[in-house]
Amino acid sequence: SAVELGEHRHYMHKEIFEQPQAVIDTLEGRVTKDTVLTSAFGHQAEEVFKTVKQVQIIACGTSYHSGLVAKYWFEDIIGLPCQVEVASEYRYRNPVVQDGTLFVTISQSGETADTLAALQQIKKLKSKFNIPTLTICNVPESSLTRESDLTFLTHAGPEIGVASTKAFTTQLVALSLLLTSVGKTLGLMDAKQEQKIVHGLLKLPGLVKQALAHEDEIQEIANCFADKHNALFLGRGTMYPIAMEGALKLKEVSYIHAEAYPAGELKHGPLALIDEQIPVVAIAPKDDLLEKLKSNLQEVKARGGQMIVFEDEESGVSSDKEFKVVKTTTNVGRITAPITFNIPLQLLSYHVALIKGTDVDQPRNLAKSVTVE
Ligand code: G6P
Repeated sequence: SAVELGEHRHYMHKEIFEQPQAVIDTLEGRVTKDTVLTSAFGHQAEEVFKTVKQVQIIACGTSYHSGLVAKYWFEDIIGLPCQVEVASEYRYRNPVVQDGTLFVTISQSGETADTLAALQQIKKLKSKFNIPTLTICNVPESSLTRESDLTFLTHAGPEIGVASTKAFTTQLVALSLLLTSVGKTLGLMDAKQEQKIVHGLLKLPGLVKQALAHEDEIQEIANCFADKHNALFLGRGTMYPIAMEGALKLKEVSYIHAEAYPAGELKHGPLALIDEQIPVVAIAPKDDLLEKLKSNLQEVKARGGQMIVFEDEESGVSSDKEFKVVKTTTNVGRITAPITFNIPLQLLSYHVALIKGTDVDQPRNLAKSVTVE
């Protein structure tokens, strides 16, 4: 293959470790030291963003999860309504389309059939509504970039492993730049907030490296999954979509059934599943929701569950023997936290897959790019 494995056993591993560079490449030429360059989305982007009243994100798989993180950001940080839906549902219902909707597709390949069909369908309404289309995509000259008004290329480089890793990370970087550009164009974000986000993003390659440095510890923890058939991933806020992505990654490469739950929903069903046979992975940054998450974890502990907690230096979840705690990062901000906390989950899935002996880069029944329905 044109892309060499080098020192790595698998493309997935190589691509996980390329993430600090992928972040640098995605930011390159798109930010100054304090600002985001709106022109990164195309020279007409500022004119287009002025007309935006809400955002509709459409994607599949891992790309859908990056969209879910962005929904929290858009509504929480700039107060702009944002909806997210998987393309295969959106294209087959009759969604209510509102004037001034920025229609954003997210895709590594730019060729996913359902995502493309959703875009083509929305374009038919362009004579009646102002619905500018933007794609966040990793492949230049793909179907999505050709058919969208605006394009932002994630510069992740070629991704060979079927389970997406570095593309996801760069999609989140792209979405944080979109948030900032749209926010400042509409007067919903001031220069100070913008500067704070940019400074966080410039620290991101270092934060990702810091998370990668915990590989040995995570490899050790992967042993907990060797004889397990199910796993539960918990998070709150943006860590809920990160939990979804962690569960998807584990399913894809290790074939262990994994489910993600917003931690506050535990008592509405999944608590019934908890016993010593089901590892529970919790993502626990020090944020406004940490105390609530901690009490959710106590409920799991009381039922004999084995907990694996990813936290930062200030979270202080517990040192009980029921908890395996990995401090993968320093305290991170609202934008950098989901990006940083996803990294150890990628490594966990990779090492569980090695233990299970699966075909890590080409899991059974899955394709890198789903170009037919
Ligand atoms: C397939 C891949 C996933 C990917 C999804 C969406 O299922 O295996 O890794 O997330 O398609 O692909 P896209 O290229 O649109 O991001």
